[in-house]
This record gives sequence, structure tokens and C-alpha cells, in this order.
Amino acid sequence: MKKFLIALMSVGALIAGAAQAELDNPGGIGGVESLRGGSQLEDTRPADSFKKYPREQTVQDSYVYQPPLIPHSIRSYEVSLNANKCLACHSWKNAKDMGATKISVTHYINREDAVLADMSPRRYFCLQCHVPQADAQPLIENNFEAVDSLKR
Ligand code: HEC
Ligand code: HEC
Repeated sequence: MKKFLIALMSVGALIAGAAQAELDNPGGIGGVESLRGGSQLEDTRPADSFKKYPREQTVQDSYVYQPPLIPHSIRSYEVSLNANKCLACHSWKNAKDMGATKISVTHYINREDAVLADMSPRRYFCLQCHVPQADAQPLIENNFEAVDSLKR
């Protein structure tokens, strides 16, 4: 009988512990806590307000191999199966006429390291890697500084 009571008490303690752990979840039970705040999985969080993307700006400093930020507005530039607006200015063929930087050779290399005659499919969706520069506050503090020899 004594053993049974002890077993019963430890099961009780486990259940209480689990309930406590759920209550400690800052996103709520089943919720998600992210850098942008907490929300319940079933709730639709109000959207953040639009960021401002200044129309023309200079490319901000970046670390080596960072996909450079986009220094211009990209509103209504289509990138889909049918069209890639970015390439209308950034392809090797068009870049000079458009006064844009041409995509670098890495954009022609596929994942087997073969250099292709045309853009590698894995680079087609530019916005997977390149994002426009917005006047947004960083979500977390960052005091990255490039070494002197690599400063632009
Ligand atoms: C109408 C022409 C045009 C279109 C369309 C366009 N760009 Fe640009 N882009 C430019 C020009 C011009 C620059 C500025 C080049 C400079 O200042 O050195 C630029 C700069 C950039 C840069 C910075 C390159 C650097 O010098 O480091 C990136 C990245 C970029 N664009 C990405 C994109 C992406 C992604 C798209 C599609 C969503 C796009 N651009 C569509 C003309 C265009
Ligand atoms: C998988 C990630 C990825 C995708 C997708 C991608 N890029 Fe890039 N891009 C990079 C990286 C990383 C760099 C910087 C290093 C380099 O040049 O490879 C870069 C560099 C650039 C540059 C600057 C080149 C230079 O000489 O300074 C331009 C312009 C550019 N990309 C445009 C584009 C456009 C336009 C597309 C879509 C058609 C695109 N990129 C798709 C990762 C990507």
C-alpha cells in the first residue's frame, strides 16, 4: 500500500510539472514565441506596418559573401515562372545598358559546381537571398565589424 501511494504521488508530481511547463511557455499553450513577439498558433497576429524602402540609396557595407542588399525599390517586380524582372536589368546581357551591377559568376554555378551557360536555377529566385534595404531596426543587437583589410 505504501509503495502504491508513493507511485501515485510521483505520477501526480509529473503531471503537475507538465502543466507548469505549459504555463511557462511565453507564447501560450501551443503558441510560438519569436523575436517579433508571442502569438497563439490559432490566432492571426496583426501584420507589422509596412517598412519604408527608400527608392534610391547606396549599398550598405556588408560582410564578405553576404548577398548584397538591394538599394532600390522592388515594388511590382515580378519573379515567377514566366518572368524575372530582376534579370531585365541585372543579366550580363542587359546590365551595361541599364547601368546595373551584373550578377556575379557564382550565379552560374550549380550545386555540382559546374559552371553553366545560363543562370543556375538555384539562383533564379533572387529574393531568397537578396532583400531590399529598409529603414528597419535590427531585431537583435549586432556589433559586427569587418576586419580592416576587408572594409569596403
Ligand atoms: C530597372 C532596372 C532594375 C531592376 C528591374 C532591378 N534592379 Fe537591382 N539595381 C539596378 C541598379 C541601376 C542598381 C544600382 C547599381 C549600383 O548603384 O551600383 C541595382 C542594384 C542592385 C543590387 C546591389 C548590387 C551591388 O552593387 O552590390 C542588388 C543586390 C540588386 N539590385 C538586386 C535586384 C533584384 C533582386 C531585383 C529584382 C527583384 C532587381 N535588382 C531589379 C537596377 C535594377
Ligand atoms: C542562393 C542565394 C542567391 C540568389 C538566389 C541570388 N543571389 Fe545574387 N548574390 C548572392 C551572393 C552570396 C552574392 C555575393 C557574392 C557573390 O558575388 O557571389 C551575390 C551577388 C549579387 C550581385 C552583386 C554582384 C557583384 O559583382 O557585386 C548582384 C547584382 C546580384 N547578386 C543579383 C542577383 C539577382 C538579380 C538574382 C536573381 C536573378 C540573384 N542575385 C540571386 C546570392 C544569391
